Amino acid sequence: MKRIIAPSVLSADFGNLERDIKMLDRSRAEWVHIDVMDGVFVPNISFGFPVMKPIRKATDKVLDVHLMITEPEKYVTRFVEAGADYVTFHYEATDKIDECIELIRKAGAKVGISIKPGTEPNVLDELLPKLDMVLVMSVEPGFGGQKFMPSSIGKCEYLTAKKRELGLDELIIEVDGGISASNSRLLFDAGAEALVAGSSVFGAADPEQAIVDMINS
Ligand code: DX5
Ligand code: ZN
Repeated sequence: MKRIIAPSVLSADFGNLERDIKMLDRSRAEWVHIDVMDGVFVPNISFGFPVMKPIRKATDKVLDVHLMITEPEKYVTRFVEAGADYVTFHYEATDKIDECIELIRKAGAKVGISIKPGTEPNVLDELLPKLDMVLVMSVEPGFGGQKFMPSSIGKCEYLTAKKRELGLDELIIEVDGGISASNSRLLFDAGAEALVAGSSVFGAADPEQAIVDMINS
C-alpha cells in the first residue's frame, strides 16, 4: 500500500510561493495538491492557471489538481496544459462526466472524481474502472482549516472493498480535509493511499517533519 502525502498549496504563503514549493520539493511528500475554486461550486475563490505556472516550474513532483468548479469540462484540458498530472473534478459539478474523463485522458493526465461529504460513494460504482483516483472529501469543500469528518473513513472502506471486488489495484483512494498525524493512520488503515493536508503541514513549526509524521503514523 502506498502512503502518499499531498500538501495543499491553499495553505502556503502566496507571497513566498516559490520558497514554499521548494520546501515541498525537498520533503517526503510525493504530490503537491492544488485547490482551484470558482466561487460558484464552492463559496470561495482561490486561483487559476497563472498560479500553476510558477508551481510547475519550482518542482517536478506530481501536481494533483482538485477542481472545485462548475462545468469542469470547459477547463480540464487547460489544466493539463498548465502542468497537472492528475485532474480531479467533482461528481456534483457536472452532468458531463464521461466527457470530462475523456478530455483529461486525451490531454495526457490521470483522472480523478471527488465526492462531497453528502454524496455516497456507491454513485461511483460504474465509473470506478474508468478512473485513476477517487477523492473523498472529509470536509465541505471551500476552505482549509476545517474539522475532519469521520464519515469519510467508512467511505474509504466501501471503496477499498469495491476496488478488490473489481480488481482495480491501481485505483488510488485520496482523502482531503482536516487531516493530520492524529487521523492519518485511520485513513491509511481504511485503504486510503493519498492524503491531502493543508493547515497541518503549513501551520506546523517543522512542515517537513509534519509530512514524515503522517507517513510514519
Ligand atoms: C478544501 C480543500 C482542501 C484544503 C485542505 O476545500 O479541498 O484541499 O486545502 O486543507 P486542510 O488540510 O487545512 O483541511
Ligand atoms: Zn483539495
